[in-house]
Amino acid sequence: MAKRIQFSRTGGSEVLELVDVTPGDPAPGEVRVRNEAIGLNFIDIYFRTGLYPVSGLPSGLGTEGAGVVDAVGEGVSHLKEGDRVAYAQGPLGAYGEYHVLPGEKVVVLPDAITSETAAASMLKGLTVQYLLRQTAQLEGGETILWHAAAGGVGSIACQWARALGVKLIGTVSSEEKAKLAKANGAWETIDYTREDVVERVRELTKGEMCDVVYDSVGKDTWITSLDCLKPRSLMVSFGNASGPVEGVNLGILNQKGSLFVTRPSLNGYADTRERLEMMCRDLFEMLGSGKVKVDIGQRFALADAGKAQDALAGRRTTGSTLLLP
Ligand SMILES: NC(=O)c1ccc[n+]([C@@H]2O[C@H](COP(=O)([O-])OP(=O)(O)OC[C@H]3O[C@@H](n4cnc5c(N)ncnc54)[C@H](OP(=O)(O)O)[C@@H]3O)[C@@H](O)[C@H]2O)c1
Repeated sequence: MAKRIQFSRTGGSEVLELVDVTPGDPAPGEVRVRNEAIGLNFIDIYFRTGLYPVSGLPSGLGTEGAGVVDAVGEGVSHLKEGDRVAYAQGPLGAYGEYHVLPGEKVVVLPDAITSETAAASMLKGLTVQYLLRQTAQLEGGETILWHAAAGGVGSIACQWARALGVKLIGTVSSEEKAKLAKANGAWETIDYTREDVVERVRELTKGEMCDVVYDSVGKDTWITSLDCLKPRSLMVSFGNASGPVEGVNLGILNQKGSLFVTRPSLNGYADTRERLEMMCRDLFEMLGSGKVKVDIGQRFALADAGKAQDALAGRRTTGSTLLLP
């Protein structure tokens, strides 16, 4: 038997249950991974609360983990038992001692990258890869605004932006988070609990405003974000930490300066094996070179997944958070 977290109804963190299950055998095309570390992500909360639909209940939770291949299904040729691997996509169920998922979503880890580092950076780091290098194709010299700059995705974004020569202005909710974002390479930070974000961006950019705004907060920051952009520039709305952006009148993009807007996801960018491998090469190079160091701010036992999610939703975490089986 093995432990896993599941939920039989959507709701608060109390719906998460630790249960004993017999780990399934991999079907053709699948592998079974014995997790050594599991990544906690905001998307896990969207599934638990019902904001994003699940395919059926009871459901497992989580899509990010790293460990060792424990069994290989028919037809999987790029993986073998004993390989050290990581994954950030596929069916829900990473919150467990074992996870069975399609082999095409699983990549072998370079020796230098530990399971903890991989579980703390696969989903978040691949997200930063596509946001900075594909959605906007930043080259250096641009000024961008990044909300939640001291969070899991944000901490990696600050470092990656610095490595590219991009000036990242990060929003945060406390002095401690501001210090962390700065240490990670944010060019400037804005504490939105006591500063006016649009006015500070205007001051910092000498009136020019930003080339791209990356907004994962959603509902609460949508208008502020549009007001921080240069004419004809790009708004990237990639999350809903405060709730989804709904009921948008497209005319607002005209009023705010002929803006572009996109609502991307990791699955929309890493949608083929080839693209996933290309994005992993880029991420592993950033990790291997030390340009990006993954900041693991918190570790929780798997059994405490609910507490971990409450800390994440309650803005009490910094950097990445791991669940340890
Ligand atoms: N589209 C994609 O492909 C993709 C992939 C990965 C992640 N994401 C999104 O990226 C965001 C960051 O994910 P993460 O896992 O790294 O989380 P995180 O940034 O570590 O945590 C969320 C942070 O958002 C800020 N926040 C602002 N308003 C909030 C609110 N009303 N409730 C909770 N937090 C609020 C808080 O930072 P402050 O205290 O500093 O405000 C909080 O610490 C999430 O929205 C997630 O859905 C999207």
